[in-house]
Amino acid sequence: MKRTFWKEAVVYQIYPRSFQDSNGDGIGDLQGILARLDYLQKLGVTVVWLSPVYKSPNDDNGYDISDYEDIMDEFGTLRDWEELLAGLHERGIKLMMDLVINHSSDEHVWFVESRSSKDNPYRDYYIWRPGGPDGALPNNWSSIFSGPAWEQDETTGEYYLHLFSRKQPDLNWENPRLREALYKMMAFWLDKGVDGLRMDVINLISKVEGLPSVQHEDLAPGELAGGGEYYMNGPRVHEYLQEMNREVLSKYDVMTVGETPGATVEDAILYTDEDRHELQMVFQFEHMDVDSGPGGKWNVVSWTLKGLRDILHKWQVGLADKGWNSLYLNNHDQPRMVSRFGDDGKYRVQSAKMLATLLHTLKGTPYIYQGEEIGMTNVKFPALEDYKDIEILNMYREKVTEGGTDHDTILQAIHSKGRDNARTPMQWNASSNAGFTTGTPWLKLNPRYTEINVEQALADPDSVFYYYQELIRLRKQHPIMVYGEYELLLPEHEYIYAYTRTLDDEKWLILLNFGDTPQTVELTDELNAVTGTIISNYPEEPAAMDRSTLRPYEARVCRIG
Ligand code: GLC
Ligand code: CA
Repeated sequence: MKRTFWKEAVVYQIYPRSFQDSNGDGIGDLQGILARLDYLQKLGVTVVWLSPVYKSPNDDNGYDISDYEDIMDEFGTLRDWEELLAGLHERGIKLMMDLVINHSSDEHVWFVESRSSKDNPYRDYYIWRPGGPDGALPNNWSSIFSGPAWEQDETTGEYYLHLFSRKQPDLNWENPRLREALYKMMAFWLDKGVDGLRMDVINLISKVEGLPSVQHEDLAPGELAGGGEYYMNGPRVHEYLQEMNREVLSKYDVMTVGETPGATVEDAILYTDEDRHELQMVFQFEHMDVDSGPGGKWNVVSWTLKGLRDILHKWQVGLADKGWNSLYLNNHDQPRMVSRFGDDGKYRVQSAKMLATLLHTLKGTPYIYQGEEIGMTNVKFPALEDYKDIEILNMYREKVTEGGTDHDTILQAIHSKGRDNARTPMQWNASSNAGFTTGTPWLKLNPRYTEINVEQALADPDSVFYYYQELIRLRKQHPIMVYGEYELLLPEHEYIYAYTRTLDDEKWLILLNFGDTPQTVELTDELNAVTGTIISNYPEEPAAMDRSTLRPYEARVCRIG
């Protein structure tokens, strides 16, 4: 397997709106990030992924871009951005930008032109269709943010497609002029020295020809349906990515990760097999669905270790020889991992470290989401008014206001799955607003900031922060963490995820207890062969004879043989 910097990388995701405010307007910004670079360097991460900082009316917090080549006013200027890039590079950290090219904002000049008339030269930059007879929509697809995926536009009376909000019209990738314009824009940033690109919902860019309606016998006339089978991993997506690679990516030494909801292992191999020249890795979503019932994301059900492990294992094995995994348990779209997969009460610190051990010892590139490294938790705002996320607000309107589901059920689902769990401001210290802002924060803080914050973590040698720092340091020292072959042990254990990594004549054993009670493992041969502990989230090494027992949420990485 070829050794590359992006396999060895540890990525830290910054959600700029919530990271650090520098001017008291309650919104995080680029100067704020600049003030925190030493912190990132201390942690040891090698790449920073910035969620979008481009000009945007912020219908979806920057994932609706109105100018791809300029910076959002609230975040600063292109100058600030250049300063940030230089600051990162001075510290040996690479910069990965977010690339949102499945859709733009409806306020992008391309769309303003496109909607102005049917024969405007930009008309074909977006996906326009006439309505059906009797005012029917062009098809029955629903938007991922609730309601129909179509919006009728007054000027021409036609509908445009928006898989996300109505302020995020989908770009028409069938149009070669549009593709060329996007590649030019990508080169603009890469020429400035950007080191990586995270491609937003990149597997949605090719829609099935004719945009067929979902056919299903249970669908009532006029009822909406997902439609994902007609736009996820669509017919021309690999052709487009290979073209993009040829036209832009291959000309730079650039790290790429595609966000690919609905991608299977087989799809992921097609996207990331090095010989195919598309992307280096993808964010798959299967493990993010372990706690979703048949009703989808908001139909929250309990998950089991077996369910989670089966998925992660399948991906480890599936991408062992071709392709490469990205490793994540949370990001700006997901609840906090310690609340979801660990214990954010009594065992918060132990379970955060246990999950970190998983992320850094599976094979792939780990992604840390801001605040994860101090064990930040989900928030339970009591009132809907405290939430700002368009996905939450649209879903609530559809299900409660219009659909009649009861408020408490939905509020509970928001508490466990809502994206704002991840977006409450970064907790820097115990002073008012956690040192995030001197003004009024755009989204309320998690009240636990007085107890969980960076200042506290840096003062405590046993903190989650220092455990991450150690994992990252180990990764830089031990190629086995990056390139070692993965092998599963105890595939049926109810609470323990156990595996080995092997590189040449080196072998590591990883034991992770996902339970809040002690658990015993039957691994006599392996445990007898243990010659030392690499890292563990419990201070003292257990005596040789009780090595087979793992304490609540214990994680142990040992050298064997
Ligand atoms: C991706 C982003 C998410 C955004 C959506 C639309 O899933 O991660 O935040 O809302 O795409 O751009
Ligand atoms: Ca600000």
